[in-house]
Amino acid sequence: KILGIDTSCDETAAAVVADGREVLSNIVASQVETHQEYGGVVPELASRKHIEAINYIVSRSLAEAGVTFKDLEAIAVTNRPGLIGALLVGVAAAKSLAYCHNLPLLGINHIEGHLLSKRMVHDALPFPHICLTVSGGHTLLVEVHEGWQYKVLGSTQDDAAGEVYDKVAKYLGLGFPGGKVIDDLAQKGNPSAVKFPRPMRNTDDYQFSFSGIKTSVRYFVEKARRADPDMITIEDIAASFQAAVVDVLVYKSLRAVKATGAAAITLTGGVAANSHLRASLKLAAAEIGAEVYYPPMNLCTDNGAMIAGIAYQKYQQGLRDGLSLNATPKGSIF
Ligand code: KG4
Ligand code: ZN
Repeated sequence: KILGIDTSCDETAAAVVADGREVLSNIVASQVETHQEYGGVVPELASRKHIEAINYIVSRSLAEAGVTFKDLEAIAVTNRPGLIGALLVGVAAAKSLAYCHNLPLLGINHIEGHLLSKRMVHDALPFPHICLTVSGGHTLLVEVHEGWQYKVLGSTQDDAAGEVYDKVAKYLGLGFPGGKVIDDLAQKGNPSAVKFPRPMRNTDDYQFSFSGIKTSVRYFVEKARRADPDMITIEDIAASFQAAVVDVLVYKSLRAVKATGAAAITLTGGVAANSHLRASLKLAAAEIGAEVYYPPMNLCTDNGAMIAGIAYQKYQQGLRDGLSLNATPKGSIF
């Protein structure tokens, strides 16, 4: 049984996982309300909120799992990448607890946690498969092989997929975070109303770029407001914007499936909640006979269970970090 802690961004999370798969508890305190009025995550506020919540969230994760520190094999914590002040809270907590209870400590890469989170729910995932990780902080296309060995095929060169949803929503005055609001509005709009660009869709690689779509939305809205404010509805803009983002994500994922001969695609990260992305990916994958898997949403968004899950594998491979473990804002998995 491993305790996994994640405080990399704006969620204070702790979980207990048995054998790397069985989620005994998975507790997450969201800070969304704190950051809402600023239209994005304020790093200093995030750190302070983590400090307030961390002890309670860890205690609850143990209580809900029905275990005490004596039952644990190790403590795992996200130590990279993320907001440095936020990461430091989780790392300091994990180090203190490991020291007090004489438990091994493991520092985990948050992105690896996302990538392999579906290990906990999908028994029969075929290898190799393609994993699309799309959240507020990351956009990654990864090829996953037997033994959960993975190779990063591509990532975003600028904004992450969730980030571009959040920025467009902020620009349109729809609040933060923007993904769900835009998703909901888009259901009532016409996705062909505006033909927004699909940056890098046809490049011969697996890279993404989303900031150009955001700029196009802004220019379009400014122009439309000057010309005729009633010409196009916010629902149409949301649907057209979403169509552009999802089109690129699906197209490149499918390209990766075809090129690698993978039998399945998995989808994780907060944007995995997107209804259009789910439906389009499923449809496109079915056309080439590939399966699509989504972990449940509480394993897609930031959580401690994915950290404990990957730590189990690392623990078995012999990884141990000393009490000198440090937090670092960057943490490539390439
Ligand atoms: O994985 P997550 O909780 O945190 C990060 O690691 O970033 O992802 C949060 C992101 C936000 O950008 C949010 O707008 C986006 O996921 N999101 C969505 C939807 N629900 C959440 N994006 C598109 N459609 C949704 N339904
Ligand atoms: Zn994340």
